[in-house]
Parts: sequence; structure tokens; C-alpha cells
Amino acid sequence: MQPLNRRIDDWHGRRAWLVGASSGIGAALAAELLQAGATVALSARRAERLQSLAARHASGRAIVAPFDILDRDAWGERYREICTQAGAIDLVIFCAADYHPERSWEISAEGAAHTLAVNLGSVYTGLATVLPDMLARGSGGIAIIASVAGYVGLPNASVYGPSKAALINLAELLYTDLHPRGLDVYLINPGFVQTELTAKNAFTMPALQTPQDAARAIVRGLVAGQFEIHFPKRFTLLVKLMRWLPYRLRFALFTHFLKPT
Ligand SMILES: NC(=O)c1ccc[n+]([C@@H]2O[C@H](COP(=O)([O-])OP(=O)(O)OC[C@H]3O[C@@H](n4cnc5c(N)ncnc54)[C@H](OP(=O)(O)O)[C@@H]3O)[C@@H](O)[C@H]2O)c1
Repeated sequence: MQPLNRRIDDWHGRRAWLVGASSGIGAALAAELLQAGATVALSARRAERLQSLAARHASGRAIVAPFDILDRDAWGERYREICTQAGAIDLVIFCAADYHPERSWEISAEGAAHTLAVNLGSVYTGLATVLPDMLARGSGGIAIIASVAGYVGLPNASVYGPSKAALINLAELLYTDLHPRGLDVYLINPGFVQTELTAKNAFTMPALQTPQDAARAIVRGLVAGQFEIHFPKRFTLLVKLMRWLPYRLRFALFTHFLKPT
């Protein structure tokens, strides 16, 4: 069967903008893409982390572009600077996220608004920044890192889970909108990966992967032109299956295994 996106045969000459590149999956993915020959613009707030990542890849193909994704004006400023250096952007990878494990009775209005702004609102700002040029060229790629936490409503991911469910929905509609106009759209749904984000979890994470495993799985999926890149399959397929269970059975399972603390 034909893949839903174009295959990527060669990373040389490709220009990616990785938003959320200072740690975890983003940092590992940036390293993997630089290694493969791509030019990669690195964004996040912690500039020193981006600098040292760029310094480890002395190819001259890393562009350090730090900013806070909640600053709407900064999106346009960084984008213009990156385009001045790289010429244009072929692929934007939305990887930044905020996560606080919390049950529903622990939600604060400020905390929820912040997580939604980082995980979801920033993606809209990013899309409004890059899409006009990509649509004018009739080429480019949008990759959104969501999560298996967006497949089903799971306790503890009270704000993070719904933000990721919204990103899954967004990636689906973007594909329908943008693919006929020449753009590729990727939905990336990782299982558990050992990063600063998941270090906050107080439970044993099943099928835990390293950021390097995750980065390699993402690059494989991009190269193959997959729309949904999800991994590790032994875990993600089980969670996908849960979506098909009748609610009565699903809720009974959650209540049994996830007792309120
Ligand atoms: N780890 C997992 O198990 C897992 C599973 C499924 C999906 N994911 C998703 O994978 C992606 C990467 O997560 P990770 O686990 O690698 O987490 P991480 O190590 O905590 O990385 C999060 C990244 O987001 C950036 N970021 C956060 N707030 C920002 C802001 N306001 N402005 C700019 N950058 C900001 C951070 O950079 P600064 O702090 O330097 O700004 C950092 O580079 C996220 O979308 C996450 O939801 C992770």
C-alpha cells in the first residue's frame, strides 16, 4: 500500500525546525536528524542546552533559535531569522509540552490554562506562522507529537491527555486539508519514554523506551512516509484496542487498575 505521505529518501538539503529541542525526545530527534544530514533549527527556552547540542554536531547545520512558544510575536521573529539562515523550512516538528500528573480534583485553572497554551495553543501559533509560505510553495511538512495519552481518557493526565487528544484531532484534519495542497502531515504518538517529562510519574511505566529509541522510531516513520507514527507497537496497539472496548468494560478496567490515591 502507498504511504499517506511522501517518502524521505535523503535528509541532505532538508531543513527542519524542531520546537522543543532542548531535552528528551526533541534533543534526541535533533541529534538523529543532524546525523542523517538535515539542517535543523533548534528551539526551546533553555538556550544553553540548544547551544551545547549544536556544538556536539560540528556540521554547521544546527541553527540555534531559542524562544518561549507562549510568546506569539517571537514565533514570527524566530521564523524569519531561521529562514534568513536556512532559506526556508521544509518540516516543522511540534515537540514542546508541559505535563503535570494530577487527578481531576487537583486541577487549577491557571495550571490547566498554561498546559493547554503550551501543548495546543502554541501549535496553532506555529501553524499560522509557517503555513502561508508552505502553501504558497505547495510543499512542506507538519509533524505533531501527540501521545497515546490522547487515545483514551486516563486519570492523572487530566489536562495533558485532553490536550493530546485535541492534537490527534488536529493532525487528522490537517492531513485532509493540506495533503491535497502538496503538504505532508505526520501524527506522532509515542508510548512511555524516559525523559524529564515522565520523571514526574510515580508509577512504573510499561514498555518504557529511551529518547534515542523514540527518535529512531520517529525518523523511520518519517522516512517511510507514515501518517501515524506510533511506538512501541506492543504498548500502543493495546491502548488503541482499549478505544474499542464498550465504556462499561473500559471504566471497570480503569477503576480496578487505577485506584484513586
Ligand atoms: N516522554 C514520554 O513518555 C512521552 C510520551 C508521549 C508523548 N510525549 C511527547 O513528546 C514530546 C517531547 O516530550 P519529552 O518527554 O521529550 O519531554 P521534555 O524532555 O520535558 O521536553 C519538552 C520540551 O518542550 C520544551 N518546552 C516546554 N515549554 C516550552 C515553552 N514554553 N517554550 C519553548 N519550549 C518549551 C522544553 O524546553 P525548555 O524547557 O528548554 O523550554 C523541552 O525541550 C512532548 O510533546 C510530549 O508530550 C512524550
